[in-house]
Amino acid sequence: MNKKLKKLFTKGSEFLGVKYPIMGGAMTWISESNLVSATSNAGGFGVIAAGSMNKKKLEQEIIKTRSKTSKPFGVNLILLHPEIEDLIDVCLELEVQLVVFAGGFPKKRHVEKFKYKNIKTMCFATTSSIAQKMLDYGVDGLILEGNEAGGHIGPVSINVLVQEILPKFLDIPIFVAGGIGRGEIFLKYLELGAAGCQIGTKLVCSNESIAHKNFKEIFIKSEARNCQISVRLDKRFPVIPVRAIENKASKEFIEEQKKVIKLLDKNGISLKDAQLKIEHFWAGSLRKAVIDGDIENGSLMAGQSVSLVKNMQSVENILRELVLQADKQIQNEEKVL
Ligand SMILES: Cc1cc2nc3c(=O)[nH]c(=O)nc-3n(C[C@H](O)[C@H](O)[C@H](O)COP(=O)(O)O)c2cc1C
Repeated sequence: MNKKLKKLFTKGSEFLGVKYPIMGGAMTWISESNLVSATSNAGGFGVIAAGSMNKKKLEQEIIKTRSKTSKPFGVNLILLHPEIEDLIDVCLELEVQLVVFAGGFPKKRHVEKFKYKNIKTMCFATTSSIAQKMLDYGVDGLILEGNEAGGHIGPVSINVLVQEILPKFLDIPIFVAGGIGRGEIFLKYLELGAAGCQIGTKLVCSNESIAHKNFKEIFIKSEARNCQISVRLDKRFPVIPVRAIENKASKEFIEEQKKVIKLLDKNGISLKDAQLKIEHFWAGSLRKAVIDGDIENGSLMAGQSVSLVKNMQSVENILRELVLQADKQIQNEEKVL
């Protein structure tokens, strides 16, 4: 590896305790012991997605992952999870290396619990003031995730987040996510001061991912423009936007909203019931697609970098390719100088 790239890797690699400062973004149903251990064994940092797990399942998954890798890995905790306090306790009891808070922002007491046990914490930052508040709470690192990413997303692209937030927090390990599919762009974020990156979509079609073959096949066939943000027809429905490959379910979601809006406007349903109907539309739908392979009726969460996913590969190859592309880019730039 080129000396310059090695240097650019130092902050993130030391922070995570890994060779490559590349986090495997937690993906509900997909980021379990196989993918997480493969990511960590390949020199990156795997993260278990606890979004669909209860206390017992998370406990088992951490133990299983430890049986498959001796390398560090983390746990992603969705703060809206009904059993969040129990999941936090599991991470504390089993002393995982790092916890990523998602689906909102942690309270100071959450961060302090982990600090007390010397467990690192990270969370997403969507504005500079949130970043500062989280750092004041004691969070150790931040993730900037652009809305090119797959899954639940914020409103801003990574291009703007890296200009707005990154330069203000250069001392902090900041990992950049959303739309990263090649090493050249990864290099540019490192040069701008990022400690590393987080990838999700790229890992879905890895050999080690347990996603159903139908789910993987649709990723390989899809283009960036197929990954659209879920359409919200009415501001009265507080749904978090999701980026996913368009399918029958995403079209039906629009029709369902039209029906519910009509009912609501005719006072045929209360606002609360209308909101619940909309919220429940996607319940269990990621599992349906990822595990059962129902790519028509399930949710096909995927980021725009899906257009750069062209085949099945091992996680090791995916990470190696990113690093080689970054390395080659530096060499090409040095030749020009
Ligand atoms: C199928 C899928 C499920 C995801 N589930 C989660 C999750 O449970 N928690 C989370 O913080 N992020 C989740 N994400 C986001 C990823 O962790 C990661 O940040 C994102 O995929 C990075 O952008 P990219 O898809 O462009 O690589 C998910 C993404 C996908 C594609």
